[in-house]
Amino acid sequence: MKQIRQPIVTVAGHVDHGKTTILDSIRKTKVYNTEAGGITQKISFTLVPMDELRKRSPLIKDLKLEIPGFLFIDTPGHAAFSHLRKRGGSLADLAILVMDINEGIMPQTQEVIEILKINKTPFIVALNKIDNISGWRKQADNLKDSIEKQSTNVRLAFDEKLFTIMGALHHHGFNAKPFYEITDFASKLALIPVSGKTGEGIPELIMMFCGLSNKFLKENLKLSGTLRGVVLEIKKEKTIQYAEAIIYDGKLKITDELAIASFGDPIITKIRILEEILPISSRFKTKEEVTASTGIRMQLINSQEILPGMPFRVLKDNIKEIKEEFKKEVGENIKTDKEGIIAKADSLGSLEALITLLRKEKISIIKAGIGNITKKDVISAQTNLKNDPMNALIVGFNVEEDEDVKSMDIGKIKIIKNDVIYRLIEDLLKFQKEKEQEIKRDKLLELSSISHLKILHQYVFRNLNPAVFGVRVEGGKLKANIKLMDADGEKITKVKAIQNNKIKVVEATKGMKVAISLPGINFERQLKDKTDLYSDISENQFKEFKDNKDILTQEEIQILQKISQIKRKQKPTWGV
Ligand code: GTP
Ligand code: MG
Repeated sequence: MKQIRQPIVTVAGHVDHGKTTILDSIRKTKVYNTEAGGITQKISFTLVPMDELRKRSPLIKDLKLEIPGFLFIDTPGHAAFSHLRKRGGSLADLAILVMDINEGIMPQTQEVIEILKINKTPFIVALNKIDNISGWRKQADNLKDSIEKQSTNVRLAFDEKLFTIMGALHHHGFNAKPFYEITDFASKLALIPVSGKTGEGIPELIMMFCGLSNKFLKENLKLSGTLRGVVLEIKKEKTIQYAEAIIYDGKLKITDELAIASFGDPIITKIRILEEILPISSRFKTKEEVTASTGIRMQLINSQEILPGMPFRVLKDNIKEIKEEFKKEVGENIKTDKEGIIAKADSLGSLEALITLLRKEKISIIKAGIGNITKKDVISAQTNLKNDPMNALIVGFNVEEDEDVKSMDIGKIKIIKNDVIYRLIEDLLKFQKEKEQEIKRDKLLELSSISHLKILHQYVFRNLNPAVFGVRVEGGKLKANIKLMDADGEKITKVKAIQNNKIKVVEATKGMKVAISLPGINFERQLKDKTDLYSDISENQFKEFKDNKDILTQEEIQILQKISQIKRKQKPTWGV
């Protein structure tokens, strides 16, 4: 019979909802107390053997389980857990989505749900902090009994929070129920009310992930002869570089040679030091050999260019096969288009998640990469600016700009960054919509312009050939070459030139006082008694403006109305 490995269980959710506290409660550690500011900074893993779990949950005492234990992964709430990806889906065999029952679905909760959906990861929901519900007392050892024995008010408050969350999850496409009401776990999402702080509900939570793993995951947990792992992080301590990784299949020996995927040829390297995480500990121990599932740390001979999220295998005489596999794994989901935006993320998994969501929104990608936003990315975006301004855009998921980019004048290039993937997509869609309007508006106003001018009679510089005099832009925009009319609809002529403080300009905006020159006009004769001038637009242009009213300002619309009133005095059907 094939050996069964530990299921990999990821704990994820919104910042401060209690992921680390729940894990502490499961493994009886106090990691939360040792964290800087109580915030989980990076992904970490813990091995918890089955006999340890049995000590925590009397509910599994008599359960026959073939699973040797679990590899738990704690994730920071402020960043994505989308790193945790392997070929064909999630690195996590199961996820625990932690939600503060009093707060419900928050931004990162939503992000986690998105990524769970993308990767089709089975999950359960821990509704944490039940002890914070006003008046809550632990009434019995058994969670269901304890819930039923709460006072009426507490029970009402609990039910209301529960139903709100069930409704919100329904909205995301899940049929969620408290675990004690579920008989068919394959089609329902189990909610387990818990308190990481008091430990209430933790035995039930343990029973749930043990039971579900045993029932649904066993087939996926059989070890094959092939080593498979994923790099989580590259860490530098002084001059030494470590790769932290998870192996989820097979065995790895210190003497093995590794092939690590990259965007180019695989990186081939020997292992200098191999360490494995100790059970219920965050310390590592040197090993000659490790078996999946486990968390490891390696010092590699050749650690150049290794990227987070990249898969690795042991190299024998199988380089061709490995290359094929890596090509599928890395290449297939990161295919780029002939044109499009630039996408950057902090690991292979997060890049894939980003690309998947961009594709869903039908956004093309010309370049995708792992790591910070570099000068090179900006230069690529500048090339885009010429072809399609909509694509002069760099999106960064969980990454920053390089220092030299921060100090660079990036001009019309837009950089959108966020640590929350769905917010990134929201910002991107908003930007694209605005940009689209802007482009449409520029096009529309290119041919003509909407303007209202006041003649400044004290500034008549020349009476004729051409007439030169001052005007103030009352509203809209004055541009060279537009035609003018007076307030009775009498055609004046085209504006030949505009000067602002004796300097020639192509346009003037609201509030500006400028001099205009009008050839073929005799100011004394034709304009002496006039006060207002308007742009003389054609009926066709008017209709086009009218059809695109949504991209005009309120003021422009008002001027247009005035223009049509003037025109209609001469021709009642004008513009109708
Ligand atoms: P990040 O790693 O920063 O995303 O946070 P986290 O989700 O790991 O939350 P953490 O475990 O650090 O807990 C956040 C705060 O909530 C801490 O002050 C905990 O003491 C508190 N807390 C966690 N669980 C409970 C609970 O069940 N009840 C109550 N009352 N407080 C809790
Ligand atoms: Mg934490």
